[in-house]
Amino acid sequence: MSEQENPFQETLLSRHRAEPCNVVIFGATGDLTNRKLIPAFYNIAAAGDLPPQFKVVGFARREKTDEGFRTELEAGNRKNSRQGHNDELWSSFSQCIHYHRSEFEDPAGYVQLKLLLDKFDQERGAPANRLFYLASAPEAFKSILEMIRAAGLNEGVGGKWARVVCEKPFGKDLATARGLNAVVAETFEEKDTYRIDHYLGKETAQNIMVLRFANSIFEPNWNSRHIDHVQITCAENLGMEGGRGGYYDTAGALRDMVQNHLFQLLSLVAMEPPTDLSADSVRDEKVKVIRALRPLIGPEAVGMNVIRAQYTAGSVDGVPRVGYRQEDRVNPESKTEPYVALRLMIDTWRWQGVPFYIRVGKQLPKKATEISVHFKKPPQVPFATSDLLKNSENTLVIRIQPDEGIALRILCKQPGQAMNVQQVKMDFRYSSSFGKASPEAYERLLLDAMAGDATLFARRDEVESAWKFIDEIEHAWHKSATPPPMHEYPAGSWGPKEADDLLRTDGREWRLL
Ligand code: BG6
Repeated sequence: MSEQENPFQETLLSRHRAEPCNVVIFGATGDLTNRKLIPAFYNIAAAGDLPPQFKVVGFARREKTDEGFRTELEAGNRKNSRQGHNDELWSSFSQCIHYHRSEFEDPAGYVQLKLLLDKFDQERGAPANRLFYLASAPEAFKSILEMIRAAGLNEGVGGKWARVVCEKPFGKDLATARGLNAVVAETFEEKDTYRIDHYLGKETAQNIMVLRFANSIFEPNWNSRHIDHVQITCAENLGMEGGRGGYYDTAGALRDMVQNHLFQLLSLVAMEPPTDLSADSVRDEKVKVIRALRPLIGPEAVGMNVIRAQYTAGSVDGVPRVGYRQEDRVNPESKTEPYVALRLMIDTWRWQGVPFYIRVGKQLPKKATEISVHFKKPPQVPFATSDLLKNSENTLVIRIQPDEGIALRILCKQPGQAMNVQQVKMDFRYSSSFGKASPEAYERLLLDAMAGDATLFARRDEVESAWKFIDEIEHAWHKSATPPPMHEYPAGSWGPKEADDLLRTDGREWRLL
């Protein structure tokens, strides 16, 4: 293929331009706005990518003035801005921030909102696009969308667009996700609906496609003939800090992380090459992976392939931690899993017989997300004398975070007279190769939503297919007469021993992180 034909060429070279826009954040007094959204807009502004005469309106129930709201956000930005906080930039940027007080169910609040947005358009001398960001509790989404529709805010003004961004969680099972999709579809077309999965905005997740499809050495080996198995680990060294226990205890690791973030990573690793890089071509291929997952139906299949566990008291980095059931706002009798490990099979030609092992957990020894692709051992190794060699295989490690990069583990001869063989690592690190920090996921995603590029957002069928698969496991855990057991692991360990057994019975082990 010539350079001109490389489908990645255009995207790699071109930068999306965001169009002039008013953004309305519903539930703007929550943590997300303070910690992620405003710092993301601030950093977009610092990079010079914010559209001219941009406005962001915080919509929430509490009484506040524009000034009071800005002061709160300034404190958040000082703490959370990726590139630090510059007083001069903040004082000009913060003028675009406004606050609008209203109940989510009050039609009058939306009429007032419309007047405010119209006023901004008059000041600009031209209508702007409108982006509605649902960052409230999910229970409020329905009322907000209905009120947006009733006020006619979902119709773009003067040929401009109106779009909606939905924060996660998008439903808590297939039925609620379908219900929510139906409500969204009454107000916005699918092409104007952006379901956030912030893992897709991570630079390293985006690089998976480039690694696979823009380099000719990987793709010919990317199949069951050459790959023994794949592991995806997402470890966190925190528990239920900051009052998160209340939400988390209604979700658990499977719903909170696997249904969305981990399935997105899995799709990127396992998908077929898309015919082009349009949002739908990429998402068509991703959803096929989820649809091809071999279903796990019934407590026996679930028990054999999925391990759930809760942490007990322990310590992480020498700091004592309480057990999951003793965490603030967690039910002392909780049946929610802060840890899950799964063995998944993808029933396609490419992946026949290749297990994908996924593990996700809280209160593990460190924060790290990585994908490791374990290649098959050579059929015959003339130097296979040492134990080390028996257990070694070529492994491609994609470090999603932290220390973003890609490493390839290969075998080499140790210097010296003897033919001793040792594993060594070829390592690419974003930090040293590019010399600058990657943008935060939300910076990329907000710019994409404003620029109309939905590639890094979950499509309706992706979300529903993922829930369909997850629902069967939840059902076996919570509704069957003989549910598979809840296991335990001490906080600060790498999970329950049963998760090690899951791989051991296949003659494999988890990669040490
Ligand atoms: C969120 C989950 O979506 O992702 C949290 O709700 C989790 O439970 C977080 O801690 C992890 O995100 P990151 O970007 O820190 O890996």
